Amino acid sequence: MTEVPMDNVVRMAEAAKQEIVAARSRQELERVRVSYLGREGKLTSALRCIGQLPSEQRPAFGRAANAARAAVEEAIARRREELAAEDAAREKRDQLDVTLPGRGPAVGHRHPLMTTLERLLDIFVGMNYQVMQGPEVEWFTLNWTALNYPPDHPAMDEQDSFYVTDDIMLRTQTSTAQIRAMRARHDESCPVRGLDWRFPPHEVLSHCRCTPPPTRVVVPGRTYRRESVTLTHSDVFHQIEGLVVDEGITFADLKGTLAAFLRAYLGPDTRVRFRPDFFPFTEPSADFSVNCEMCGGAGCRFCKHSGWVEIGGSGMVHPNVLIAGGYDPARVSGLAFGFGVERLAQRRFQIEHIRTLYENDMRFLRQF
Ligand code: DAH
Repeated sequence: MTEVPMDNVVRMAEAAKQEIVAARSRQELERVRVSYLGREGKLTSALRCIGQLPSEQRPAFGRAANAARAAVEEAIARRREELAAEDAAREKRDQLDVTLPGRGPAVGHRHPLMTTLERLLDIFVGMNYQVMQGPEVEWFTLNWTALNYPPDHPAMDEQDSFYVTDDIMLRTQTSTAQIRAMRARHDESCPVRGLDWRFPPHEVLSHCRCTPPPTRVVVPGRTYRRESVTLTHSDVFHQIEGLVVDEGITFADLKGTLAAFLRAYLGPDTRVRFRPDFFPFTEPSADFSVNCEMCGGAGCRFCKHSGWVEIGGSGMVHPNVLIAGGYDPARVSGLAFGFGVERLAQRRFQIEHIRTLYENDMRFLRQF
C-alpha cells in the first residue's frame, strides 16, 4: 500500500468521471456521486488512508487526493447542469397549454344529394306513396323485355349499358322496379309471386290467381349508363321512379300528381310543362320540365338556353307492362314517372356541374 494509494486515487477519479458522463438522469448522477463522494464512498474511503502513510508522503498524497476530488466534483456539477437543461427543454416541449381553444370532433352530415332524395321522398310519402327499393344489378328481362322494349331497341346496345352477363346488367333506369312492385302486390299464394324473373312477361297475367290491390310506390336508387359526363349527365346517377296502378287512373291524375309534387319541392310558383314524348313502357308518354331558376327563364347553359329544365319522363302505363306485373289492363290503368335526383339537387342548391356532387371535395360539401 506504499505507493499504490496515489495511483488508486487517480484511477478512481477517472472511473468516476466516466460514470458521471454516462449518467442519464439527475437521480442516476446522484447515485454516482454518493458512491464516490458519500461518507462511505469509494473516493472518500481511499482518502482516509492518508493517516496510515509515512509523514513525508502525506503532503503529496494530500494534494493529489484533493485535486482528484475537486475534478470529480466539478464533473458532477457540469453534468448536473447539462441534465437540468435537458429536463427543462423536455418540459417546455411537453407543456400543455390549457388556454388553447379545443379542437372539436369532426362531425359529418348528410350529402346534399341524400338530403335532396329524402326531401323528395318525404313529399311522396305525404301523398300516400310507399317507398320501395330494387336491386342495382338487375335481370335483362326486367330492365327491357318486361318494360315492353322491342328486341332490337337501340338502348339495349352494349355501347349504352353495362352488362354483367347476357342475362344480368346494371339497371339503366329505376323503371325496372315497376315490375317488381306490381308482382309484390299479389297474394302470398298467387303463382305470380314466385315466378322466375326470366319468365316470358306477356304470360305472367295468365298465371295470376288473385286480384292484386292498387299499387302506389316510389322507388329511389342508383342507375348506370355508359355516358360521358357533361354539366348535367353522369354515368352513375340517382332516379326516383313512381308508379300508381288502380281502377280509373287517368292522364289528369298524372299531370296533377307531378305538378303538385314539383310545386311542393320547388315552390308554389313553379311552372310545369308537359310535352309529348315516347317511352316503350308508357302510352301516351310525356316529358316534364320546370322553368329554369338559374337564369329566370332568360336562357343559360344549365337550361341549354331554352328557359326550361327537363326533369323526367312520364306516361300512362302500357298494357303490356301491366300484364308483366300480373295486372289486368281491362280492369286497371296506371300512371308512371321517373326523374333524376341530381338535377333537382343542382337546381335546389344552384350547383352548375353535376360532377361536384361526386367529387367529395370537402370545401364543397361543408357548405351544406
Ligand atoms: N325510365 C325513364 C328514363 O330513365 C324515365 C321514365 C319515363 C320513367 C317515363 C317512367 C316513365 O316511369 O313513365 O329515362
